[in-house]
Amino acid sequence: MLHTSNSSAAAAVAQLDGASLAGRRLALIGAGTMGRAIAGGLQRAGAFPDAAIAVVDHHDSTARALASEIAGAHVDDLAGACRDADVVLLCVKPKDVAGVLATLRGADALAHAPLLISIAAGVSIATLEAGTGGRVPVIRAMPNTASQIGRGCTVVSRGALATDEHLAIAETIFTSVGRCLALDERHLDAVTAVSASGPAFIYVVLEALTDGAVSCGLPRDAAMELVARMTQGAAEMVLATGRHPAALKDDVTTPGGCTIAGLMVLEDGRARSVLARTIETTARVAAGLGR
Ligand SMILES: NC(=O)c1ccc[n+]([C@@H]2O[C@H](COP(=O)([O-])OP(=O)(O)OC[C@H]3O[C@@H](n4cnc5c(N)ncnc54)[C@H](OP(=O)(O)O)[C@@H]3O)[C@@H](O)[C@H]2O)c1
Repeated sequence: MLHTSNSSAAAAVAQLDGASLAGRRLALIGAGTMGRAIAGGLQRAGAFPDAAIAVVDHHDSTARALASEIAGAHVDDLAGACRDADVVLLCVKPKDVAGVLATLRGADALAHAPLLISIAAGVSIATLEAGTGGRVPVIRAMPNTASQIGRGCTVVSRGALATDEHLAIAETIFTSVGRCLALDERHLDAVTAVSASGPAFIYVVLEALTDGAVSCGLPRDAAMELVARMTQGAAEMVLATGRHPAALKDDVTTPGGCTIAGLMVLEDGRARSVLARTIETTARVAAGLGR
């Protein structure tokens, strides 16, 4: 189920539910790769007004730097930041989730039942609900690093205590940094493999295609731009036309031509099964990360 469009991230925020983020405060826990990507995207989209995002991280200088970049507030007290927040966005590694939740519970920082959104791979809604004492609405989300440029793709799943309004808040947050879909939690490990890890796989493909072009004599910067734009165009053709990739591939493949010759090389290298198994293995490992 597709809920939103990313044609204009800021407009989408206003359009989806202009009131849902108004006056709300966000505590962002973990200013690493994803915390920075999401915070940067939220700031670009103007999703939260200045200083409505509090940033907390183990590394004080990291939190300080991010807070200054996004005109947010830097808070060095994890419990204090959450006590003041309507939404707590947990962006720490899966292994650190239990510790953060134990600290928050110990400090009674979740008594006001803020919406807890966790992006930790493999950490189930049941684990998050148990870690918060079962009295906090929980949404599990799986975004990706392209959130930083407003081209992210996030899937959200809600827990038992999360209402339609909580889901709308999460969707508004992630729509402001790209696209957002709501799916059942059972799909989230596959989503992690495709949406969250997927960019790494595509970067390897981009690098390899670029190397091939360089080997044919193309300057590296031109090769890289052509490969990236070609990939973007091909992906947008799939989305815009809704046609099966195999049919789009056939359009490019003249009988006896150069494309079919290249495709034969891909088939010899079992590229299809290698890529499919890459997703399968990644999803399996993702499922175990929260245990
Ligand atoms: N990277 C991706 O592409 C991606 C995509 C989708 C989802 N995710 C999920 O996003 C989460 C974050 O990943 P990441 O790559 O952004 O990790 P990261 O770069 O390691 O960032 C996590 C940050 O949180 C800090 N932290 C840990 N425990 C803390 C605590 N108790 N209080 C305050 N700060 C704390 C870490 O500090 P230390 O370094 O000192 O531990 C680190 O600075 C993970 O759960 C991952 O599964 C990642």
